[in-house]
Amino acid sequence: MKQILHVDIKNYDITISDDNFYSFIKDIMDYTNNQKRLFVVSSKVYKLYSKALFLNNSEIFILKDGEKEKNYKNYLKIIELASQRGFTRKDVFIAIGGGVVGDITGFAASTYMRGIDYIQVPTTLLSAVDSSVGGKTAINMDYAKNILGSFYQPKAVFININFLKTLDKRQFRSGLGEIIKYAFIENSCTSDFHVFLFEYLALCCDKVYEFDSISLVRIIEYCLKLKIAVVNADEKEVSLRKILNLGHTLAHALETITNYKKFTHGEAVVYGLYFALKLAYEKELIKYSYYRMAVDLLEKYGFASLNLNKYNKQKLLAIMQNDKKAQHDKIIFILPNGKKTVQEIEFTQTELAEFI
Ligand code: GLY
Repeated sequence: MKQILHVDIKNYDITISDDNFYSFIKDIMDYTNNQKRLFVVSSKVYKLYSKALFLNNSEIFILKDGEKEKNYKNYLKIIELASQRGFTRKDVFIAIGGGVVGDITGFAASTYMRGIDYIQVPTTLLSAVDSSVGGKTAINMDYAKNILGSFYQPKAVFININFLKTLDKRQFRSGLGEIIKYAFIENSCTSDFHVFLFEYLALCCDKVYEFDSISLVRIIEYCLKLKIAVVNADEKEVSLRKILNLGHTLAHALETITNYKKFTHGEAVVYGLYFALKLAYEKELIKYSYYRMAVDLLEKYGFASLNLNKYNKQKLLAIMQNDKKAQHDKIIFILPNGKKTVQEIEFTQTELAEFI
């Protein structure tokens, strides 16, 4: 099974398949036939898949797992390795791993000799449906996440759902959180087609948890079709792309207040989705019937809301105020305003405090 999607800006393809790893890596090798390759591979993926992917040690940089590895030291190591091996602008970096590997490799590619090709091979559900597509690249500094980065589109994205089989349940569910976000924004994505992701997710929950290949390929395809429509319209997040931040204002605050140790990104997004739905309902942006439908979908996938009383309200508000998304002292939320539609709403700290 193979689906190919096209991203108009920078003209690249995304392949989603359940091919065996031999054909999969052959496609990537054929695609980069005349280029020197540097594979940046997550250590976990290296342990599990280096043999199946016939990875050659002389072409590899292994990145340890964890958000803290997305730092300037590893970034410089990638650059130095490419330089020592005589990489020119004609060569290619290939990221194999989750969002951390994709982000740092993309950033290294965007700055090496002012930009060389890179290919995304996402191996987690979260990176397959979100971070591998759209060209957001970055590294963290100790004091701020994603503070050094660029918009730099990959040359191609190769997704193989067989990688998802070795994800632990928590990581898999983390991806589902981001997928449900797409279901809540579908009608705002300005796509000239409907994929009915919300309805599809409601129907195929059991199949997803049974790892049914057809359902998984279709869900990834639907999310990416929506993301592509958004990114084609607004690559640099000047306007429309902000809708992809549904659930993320609170999510980033929760991740920050817990030092990125308590929640996976997808879990934090799920809590952010619950909060956004509640806020939208209390502000009368959505009717109770839609609020209920949306919460039912989250519950169907086994998610529950988070009691925010456990966290210091003033700290949460202060973090949201300092978020990259904040503007002119206002905290910016993307909130549902109808069935599968969203809009941007600004709050002062005082206004928002009432709802936490
Ligand atoms: N992850 C949100 C975006 O790519 O804009």
